[in-house]
Amino acid sequence: MDRKKVMIPDLIAKKRAGKKITMLTAYDYPTAKLADGAGIDCILVGDSLGMVVLGYDSTVPVTMDEMIHHSKAVRRGTKYAFLIGDMPFMSYQVSAEEAVRNAGRFMKEACCDAVKLEGGYEVLGVTKAIIDAGIPVLGHLGLTPQTVSKLGGYKVQGADSRTAKKLLDQALKLEEAGSFAIVLECVPDRVAGYITGKLKIPTISCGAGPSCDGQVLVTNDMLGLFDRFVPRFVKQYARLSVSISDAFRKYKAEVESGKFPGPEHLFSIKDEELKKLKR
Ligand code: KIV
Repeated sequence: MDRKKVMIPDLIAKKRAGKKITMLTAYDYPTAKLADGAGIDCILVGDSLGMVVLGYDSTVPVTMDEMIHHSKAVRRGTKYAFLIGDMPFMSYQVSAEEAVRNAGRFMKEACCDAVKLEGGYEVLGVTKAIIDAGIPVLGHLGLTPQTVSKLGGYKVQGADSRTAKKLLDQALKLEEAGSFAIVLECVPDRVAGYITGKLKIPTISCGAGPSCDGQVLVTNDMLGLFDRFVPRFVKQYARLSVSISDAFRKYKAEVESGKFPGPEHLFSIKDEELKKLKR
């Protein structure tokens, strides 16, 4: 069967048909190619880049230039998936004009299909401005890591009726502003399910349970490549850090013992040519 590039109407159709949307993060060409080849619907170049690839303590230091550099590599590995660039902290907070300009960089320089930005009431204006400029926006509510300092830590959001109502209200307002979908991060599953039922646009769960219209995981977490901490909502589908570390140790031992390189890794030269060389 011919595979078509995923577009926003396909995501909305999945919600309507009760079919789940799959999303993973990628930060480089080979990972994007593998996710795309596995049939993942959406690839997010998350600003989680800062923690899982660049070694920062949080997502706050990530810059626009770093995001664009990695998004370009991911674009080259992505043929069918819907590609979303994550707007880093302070790329959309200062003014709507700056937000539109930065969102535009994701589209023009990295050929993304959409951008994501974190927040509710405080980003309604910039969300509208970016959409008015012709750029689709994915919302992000609940635990918003860029403002973790304001939230008082990496904690569940919407766990009482007052904060859950506020989350629902913000989700409805983001939908009204034109967002094509919303990520719900670290939200109790029954709250996320309730919000999902109230929206026409899809919700994507990041630790918000199975009732959302789709799921997203940070690829390095689900592959067991980032061991600094593993959030409770992450399922590790592989333990790549163990495999990689074993391979590195084996390589070191084989180089030191002379086992690598073996005869199968060598290039040949004819005897007479070697004789001439040594003459
Ligand atoms: O930065 C990121 O990877 C994200 C996802 C976890 C949703 O925002």
